[in-house]
Amino acid sequence: MNTIEPCTLVIFGARGNLSRIKLIPSLFRLESMKRLPDRMVILACGLEAVTREEWLEEVASILQAKFPQGLDEAAFARFRDRLHYHASPPDDAESFRRLKQTIDEHPDFPPNVVFYMSVRPSEFPEIIASLGKVDLLKQKRGWRRVVIEKPFGQDLLTAQILQSGISRYLKEEQIYRIDHYLGKNTVQNIMVFRFANILLEPLWNHQYISYVQITHSETLGVEGRAGYYDTAGALRDMIQSHLLQLLALVAMEPPVSMNPEHLRNEKVKVLNSIRPITQNAVNAHAFRGQYTSGVIDGEVVPAYLDEPGVAPESVTETYAAMKLFVDNWRWAGVPFYLRTGKRLAENSSAICIRFKSPPKDLLRNKLHEYSHPNWLLLGIQPNECIKMEMQVKVPGFELNTRTLSLDATYRGGEDSEHDAYEGLLLDVMEGDQSQFLRFDEVEWAWRVVDPVLKVWSMERNFINTYKSGTWGPRGTYRLFDRDDQFWRHSLDVDGAELHPY
Ligand code: BG6
Repeated sequence: MNTIEPCTLVIFGARGNLSRIKLIPSLFRLESMKRLPDRMVILACGLEAVTREEWLEEVASILQAKFPQGLDEAAFARFRDRLHYHASPPDDAESFRRLKQTIDEHPDFPPNVVFYMSVRPSEFPEIIASLGKVDLLKQKRGWRRVVIEKPFGQDLLTAQILQSGISRYLKEEQIYRIDHYLGKNTVQNIMVFRFANILLEPLWNHQYISYVQITHSETLGVEGRAGYYDTAGALRDMIQSHLLQLLALVAMEPPVSMNPEHLRNEKVKVLNSIRPITQNAVNAHAFRGQYTSGVIDGEVVPAYLDEPGVAPESVTETYAAMKLFVDNWRWAGVPFYLRTGKRLAENSSAICIRFKSPPKDLLRNKLHEYSHPNWLLLGIQPNECIKMEMQVKVPGFELNTRTLSLDATYRGGEDSEHDAYEGLLLDVMEGDQSQFLRFDEVEWAWRVVDPVLKVWSMERNFINTYKSGTWGPRGTYRLFDRDDQFWRHSLDVDGAELHPY
């Protein structure tokens, strides 16, 4: 018996990319696991006039493509019964009124409603205003929640304008600003790892940690999303949202409880302790690059400038790296290095924490090389793992050391795997905002990146480039504070070798 209240999930942009790739498959997986609420209805909204039958066929082909091993027939039959379609052509002034009529009067549609904005960010305000004007956002007969995809604004000012527009119709408790990174199992594990184990807490500060590195690298390019990406760039697309959230989870104080407000208060404290980057310090704190043609998985891939839809002179960054300092008691002086890029050498997301060297390197005199400081590695994807690198003695007569990796890969063969969207969709239906961004979190995150965006938008004559399939542009080492700091590319033991860029 499912305990979540029945609801109607309205998806705006149901025929778009995100919905096809993530939302519909995630909802179907929840259906297969019997996790969707009883009597829940999924109402797809699209610009085209499509019949219900045509929509059902479209969903069937989306699911067959996503799950080529075959669909659970019983689950698919249950899922089909929930699906409806509502056409909302741009020139149809009456479409929101008809939507209201359907939700209010159709006996199959539960009055608790989630509106999911799976549309271009420029369309959020208008759709929310239209819902507000026909009185669909008032919580009279049931609750009303709105899920807003990132990016929430283009910078601090536009985020504030968007917020003031939508808050005419919505209270904060109704707004679910989604950052799908927070739905990832390993990201949620950062908190468990930190707060359910006392072991590392005494070491989790500037006295023992030398620096922290957070990486999200992808081999994919812009994949037909140039319309959005060319106006956003890597700093907005990944760092302002996902990577700053990871930083907040690594750096935050233990919350008073797991209550969403307590949790988000602590994340906000971290974000607002990040030392502001002044405009003339931007080049010392941030680095950008753009991919040129290269080889990925044995295939030649085009340069960013040759991707369909990219402006010919574009200086949009497909790689961005930053150095940040969290100016509070715990983290004073510890650099946090963030980097992300498309068309890099590997798909990999990880948090790598490098500890300081012991105060006196007693073994050094007997060795030809330094002993290596400890690393703690939290692999987010594709390998979900926790690794701790330590030094041990090489068996034999000499007192030589080597690096041993304690590998706590914690996913067992029997553990289920879920897409981040599955859990987050359930959270919205359950009314749990813990894994969603509060507006002040978004504001503080914009404050961190805004000065860099401003300088980059003025410097339009030049951008560093990097060959697709490499680890990014040369010269990013200038962000490092010291000679012994470097980008860690791999979570294997030999990844702890020095890399110049
Ligand atoms: C999205 C970005 O938010 O996250 C994409 O817009 C990026 O550009 C993606 O590729 C990465 O997330 P994941 O879960 O696919 O690794």
